[in-house]
Amino acid sequence: MDENNESKVAQPAAEPKPLWGGRFSAAPTGELERFGASLPFDKRMWKQDIRGSKAHAAMLAHQGVISAEDAEAIRAGLDEIAGEIERGEFTFDVDRDEDIHMAIERVLTERIGPAGGRLHTGRSRNDQTAVDTHMIARDLADELLGSLEGIQQVLLDRAEEQFGVVMPGYTHMQPAQPVLLSHHLLAYFWMFSRDHKRVADARAAANKCPLGAAALAGTTYPLDRAMTASELGFDEPVANSMDAVSDRDYLLDLIYACSVCQIHLSRLCEELVWWSSAEFGFVEMDDAHSTGSSIMPQKKNPDFAELVRGKSGRVVGDLMSLLVTVKGTPLTYDKDLQEDKEPLFDAADTVLGSLMACTGMLATCTFKADRMREASHEGYMAATDLADYLVGKGLPFRQAHAVVGRIVGDCVREGVTLQQLTTDELRSYSELFDDGAHEALDIDNIVRRRTTLGGTGHDAVRAQLAQARDVLAAETA
Ligand code: ARG
Repeated sequence: MDENNESKVAQPAAEPKPLWGGRFSAAPTGELERFGASLPFDKRMWKQDIRGSKAHAAMLAHQGVISAEDAEAIRAGLDEIAGEIERGEFTFDVDRDEDIHMAIERVLTERIGPAGGRLHTGRSRNDQTAVDTHMIARDLADELLGSLEGIQQVLLDRAEEQFGVVMPGYTHMQPAQPVLLSHHLLAYFWMFSRDHKRVADARAAANKCPLGAAALAGTTYPLDRAMTASELGFDEPVANSMDAVSDRDYLLDLIYACSVCQIHLSRLCEELVWWSSAEFGFVEMDDAHSTGSSIMPQKKNPDFAELVRGKSGRVVGDLMSLLVTVKGTPLTYDKDLQEDKEPLFDAADTVLGSLMACTGMLATCTFKADRMREASHEGYMAATDLADYLVGKGLPFRQAHAVVGRIVGDCVREGVTLQQLTTDELRSYSELFDDGAHEALDIDNIVRRRTTLGGTGHDAVRAQLAQARDVLAAETA
């Protein structure tokens, strides 16, 4: 909340707003004005607002709509305001200004006089807020892309460093088949790579310029929309002025991309929480990424992983919030659309913070290779390979499955692992077993033999690492 926004007492009706005062004889109470204001959160777009206004003013001068002197006064005034905001010297006053657009224009006009009053020629706050939001969405997308590349790099580095470490792979949270830790880490690499693509696509959707649409219908002034679009770094102007001021699809795209990314982070954190438990012991989180307990001196808690998992609800909530906001809005601009910014900022900030936390956790945690190897011998994960061994000797797979099922059942009752069985013991189930069966039961062999493209075999994972390196290089190019 703005520090100027604290009074809870209803104010008497104020003087009509100078920006539209002509038609009005009274204004909403201070309380109601604050309810309608977006300044407390849209002041975050001050840079975009000033950049957009400078481009608009320069274009107006170029088209002969305002004089070169006025455009210059506007530019200088806006630069001065930008410096003050940057230095924290600018006072935002929600009791005077509803939003960032009015705040900057009011102060500009107080300072430079009539030239300031010409800035808004051929422009509406509808296309102004739209262009600011397109620009900040683009900036947030760029930050997200950088952070996604960062977490992908760490996953790739750790997958390379841990190459050869074997761990249990699970389905239904039950031990299934052993895999390389590198393979498991790379699975997340690909998830974040898809997030990267989704964010890049959302950025491309945001990269069209609504400025010049004015309120909804375009304007009678000879605006050069291509000029402002290009000056502001957009690919092109939005084709339809009504669509330009009412479209929020690009924000939905971006918040959707944020939601999927946060869900990926949540799944990763869920695993880190399990893996760092005493029962699993697959990973030790770095002290600097863990917290203790105020009562239990022994505790080392993966708080940050839990918090990232917990924050997924709010990002998904941000997506729902904006979907519902847009759902009921007829063309073109409706004040409902002011509700677009908080979900955008919240989703992007939450994902950026979560990416920062997870990148740090992944970079600094210690993987417990011995414990992972030991666990790979628990849970009878060699059973598939023992059945495949019998298949290699000519037994149909269904029969082999039944034989090995019996062996596992007996081992469970006896409390021994498959690797502890002697050849004679194996032969009591099937004459097809011989000494070679122990090779089939060797955990490293089991992994190594999975040579199919995208499988966990050492060669396949080596190829995958090379592919991942290429993909990341293309993303960062
Ligand atoms: N603060 C408004 C928003 O963020 C700016 C646009 C207002 N336009 C209007 N006609 N009320 O949506």
